[in-house]
Amino acid sequence: MSFDLVFFGGTGDLTWRKLMPALFQAFRHGKLPEGGRILAVARDEQTDERYREWLKERFREVDAGKRPSDEEFERFAALVHYRRMDLSQPDHYAGLKDWLDARNADTVVLYLATSPHLFTGICQQLGAVGLNHPKVRVVLEKPLGHDLASAQEINRAVRCVFAESQAFRIDHYLGKPSVQNLMALRFGNALFEPLWRRESIANIQITLAERLGVGTRGAFYDGTGALRDMIQNHALQLLTMIAMEPPSTNDADAIRDEKLKVLRSLKPFTTESVARDVVRGQYRAGSIEGKAVPGYLEEVKVPPDSQCETFVALRTEVNNWRWAGVPFYLRTGKRLAERDAEIVVNFRPVPHKIFPGASQPNRLVIKLQPDDGLELQLLAQKGTGHGEQLTPVSLDLDFDKAFATQRVGAYERLLLDAIAGRLNLFVRSDEQEQAWRWVEPILDAWEADTSGPRPYSAGSWGPAAASALVARDGFSWAEEQ
Ligand code: BG6
Repeated sequence: MSFDLVFFGGTGDLTWRKLMPALFQAFRHGKLPEGGRILAVARDEQTDERYREWLKERFREVDAGKRPSDEEFERFAALVHYRRMDLSQPDHYAGLKDWLDARNADTVVLYLATSPHLFTGICQQLGAVGLNHPKVRVVLEKPLGHDLASAQEINRAVRCVFAESQAFRIDHYLGKPSVQNLMALRFGNALFEPLWRRESIANIQITLAERLGVGTRGAFYDGTGALRDMIQNHALQLLTMIAMEPPSTNDADAIRDEKLKVLRSLKPFTTESVARDVVRGQYRAGSIEGKAVPGYLEEVKVPPDSQCETFVALRTEVNNWRWAGVPFYLRTGKRLAERDAEIVVNFRPVPHKIFPGASQPNRLVIKLQPDDGLELQLLAQKGTGHGEQLTPVSLDLDFDKAFATQRVGAYERLLLDAIAGRLNLFVRSDEQEQAWRWVEPILDAWEADTSGPRPYSAGSWGPAAASALVARDGFSWAEEQ
């Protein structure tokens, strides 16, 4: 199957940091279909050769294990082309179409790795030159809008030009191996599904913690904040995968219909419940792994009086028969104690105790980062002594070790899916809009509340109020137990 993959924003950070390295991995693993061309388009005037040299330099900054040897780079670079485009010029789109038509590949993937304010204009121009024919797919990188209205505007523009089945909205968390395995765990095994409900589960915690600060992205981040950057998309997508009903098939729309139902069932926020159930924080100077780091307000291109949140913890519920009354706690933050992304399913305690000592309820931990795995925490008897207290033990599954295969990264997986036309791991417009609808009351309440985010020290687990949020229900965050 021949394909042409075009990156708009071909010299941008995302392209060289994530997309090209992911494609290179796919190439190295022999997964990139034969007969592909990769075209980077951007404003600069340069030749294919100069772009390839530039890319080779950039690859030196990629993690050592993902860096090509000179020989590998030459073979990969032979697929890479460059084309100058001014995205406001209609004739430049006509030129792109001619370039693509001359080859007439089986599939054309147009990846919009540009600033989202350009999406509407790009889609209109693509439509005007007929680059929306059935072989074309358009990939839209996040952030998809800034609020519900801007997301709807982008979706309208996309819909005017492309069918929904041609639109691939990326949320790279859906490409992470453990998220894939969450579907397998729930719907490929009979073991857990009978327990996957309010009768057996006490609460669910989703933590997306980062050690990094905002780095050089201060200007972008300050207009965004943790709620828009991580909760509206990544955390909510994970929540839908955990809470959804079993889909009738493994097809994209069967899955996305179920995810949408979860989003629609989320308990809506009011001004009062935002004050009670949402904690926003902002990091101050502190230390990460023994190294002093500056506070958010000292970061490059961050206004010294910024009220932007770098941390959010919230409590919500899924209002349906399966989940009524079960708290879902979502938490994300920059400059936290660990780089740790995980979903913790806390089961209810045994109904009647026959062993002495404290009884620790079972817990299933789905680990997304830094390693992919599953951990099931049980209680067991260590010795043989009668009346002995039970000891917690874990059944630990490390996917990399278990399968001993090449690990497929999130972007690699999603790029291959976009080329193959598999929509399962991409977000549908109605899901995305519903997620915005749900977060908007939080944004509105914060706008009206000038008290601003609570400070927390870099290297901590966020403001103390985040612990209090969970303690109020008689629970605690996993790392506090
Ligand atoms: C991105 C956010 O979507 O996800 C970043 O914009 C964040 O702020 C990143 O750092 C985290 O992704 P990962 O895969 O490193 O956990």
